[in-house]
Amino acid sequence: MGGGAKMSVSHESRQQLIAEARHAAAAAYAPYSDYQVGAALLFEDGAIVTGANVENASYGLALCAETNAVSKAMNQGRRGGLIAVAVVGPSDKGDGSPITPCGRCRQVLNELAQLGGTDPEILCVGNDEVRSVTLSALLPYAFGPAHLD
Ligand code: THU
Repeated sequence: MGGGAKMSVSHESRQQLIAEARHAAAAAYAPYSDYQVGAALLFEDGAIVTGANVENASYGLALCAETNAVSKAMNQGRRGGLIAVAVVGPSDKGDGSPITPCGRCRQVLNELAQLGGTDPEILCVGNDEVRSVTLSALLPYAFGPAHLD
């Protein structure tokens, strides 16, 4: 789909995506922060690709769940078609409000989104609330591959 339009995702698909992200968090390697995050990417063909955060003894080298999921998807040959993303953190940390992708992950997600001309819905999952926001709202005026053409 082109033009940056938002494709609508059914309630069932959203729920499944959130469940996949929650499941993915179990594979996190987060011994330093003890903050396990899972991300799940939904593509136009119905495929879901997940990721979890992977930390490092050199703390600053931690890789976020969203970044790992994008890397995994691109290593499978995907170059677009991203319509929704769910991000889930631990339910027993912080105030339980929905977590949003960090700045770097927004940029990493934007690469895959812009390649396929989509503006994915980002489902930020909290304990009592799921906040839905477009990637373009999280990262307005994004720098992307088109700038390099
Ligand atoms: N983290 C993610 O994986 N995704 C986010 O959206 C926020 C932060 C990770 C990075 C680090 O491993 C841990 O959460 C604590 O910051």
